[in-house]
Amino acid sequence: MPIAMIVHGGAWAIPDEQVEPHLAGCRAALAAGWAVLEAGGLAPDACEAAVRVMEDAPIFDAGTGSVLTSAGTVELDAAMMDGRTLRYGAVANLRRVRNPITLARRIMDGPGTFLAGEGAEQFALAVGLPLCENDALVVERERGLWEAWRAGQVAAPQYGAPVGSQGPDQQPSAHAVGGRDTVGAIALDSSGNLVVANSTGGTPFKLPGRIGDTPMVGCGLYADDFTGGAVCSGWGESIVRVALARRAVELLERGLPPQSAAEVAIRNLARRVSGGSGGCIILTPAGRIGLAWNTRRIAYAYRQEGGEPTWGC
Ligand code: GLY
Repeated sequence: MPIAMIVHGGAWAIPDEQVEPHLAGCRAALAAGWAVLEAGGLAPDACEAAVRVMEDAPIFDAGTGSVLTSAGTVELDAAMMDGRTLRYGAVANLRRVRNPITLARRIMDGPGTFLAGEGAEQFALAVGLPLCENDALVVERERGLWEAWRAGQVAAPQYGAPVGSQGPDQQPSAHAVGGRDTVGAIALDSSGNLVVANSTGGTPFKLPGRIGDTPMVGCGLYADDFTGGAVCSGWGESIVRVALARRAVELLERGLPPQSAAEVAIRNLARRVSGGSGGCIILTPAGRIGLAWNTRRIAYAYRQEGGEPTWGC
């Protein structure tokens, strides 16, 4: 079976000066995942390797470098789903785990459910994953933004703003922070297994305890070896309302090609939810790609067997 992989580094109004680092991070993540697949490795390992690279790269809103909550802390969400078994593992509100995707993977392979907060961190310790200080996940850029927000010098992103206004999908105004977003990956291994994964710090200055689309099955991600996998990114409050990832896979089930499925899913998001915004990546069992977004940009990279890596932002 042909191998294939796609990763994304967030769908939002990525500023011009952040385009190159986003692309570099996506390319590095793809290379890490591809090395696993090319060596005959498994899709869960490829996804975990790719997402870990992005969690460790401070440019992304995942792992180290994530946005801060209104309380000035980092709270992380992540998930992984296996399209062969439909097993699923998710984590939310982590404050002391450097690589949430690895914990989500351990949950998928173990109890197969969704663990949040203290219980999730206790499970991490029980399976031998180390905890870190919350401060170790905070970078200067995000601490500075949070301090500016607290001082009233910048506003929170205007999610849900109607098209044409200054929201996260347009050029951010001088005053508003321009969003930030999730990373994700889909891998197809040589046995035909499709696995989806994602990880996020959520939205800037979110309420402590807030959980977006990322770790919710059918919203931020979904995979079925028979039809395809989808991973979503964007304004979580809008994505959950249309169960965007399941919707994209359902469009594949109805026979749409992956590119059309991604486009229809994103159009439906904007039509059904006022200001609904985000991006969707798709990979099919044949290794075909779909990619659509209605935010200003999405950072991505993909590769199909016999081809060279392709990337964009
Ligand atoms: N898409 C990430 C979030 O809304 O939390």
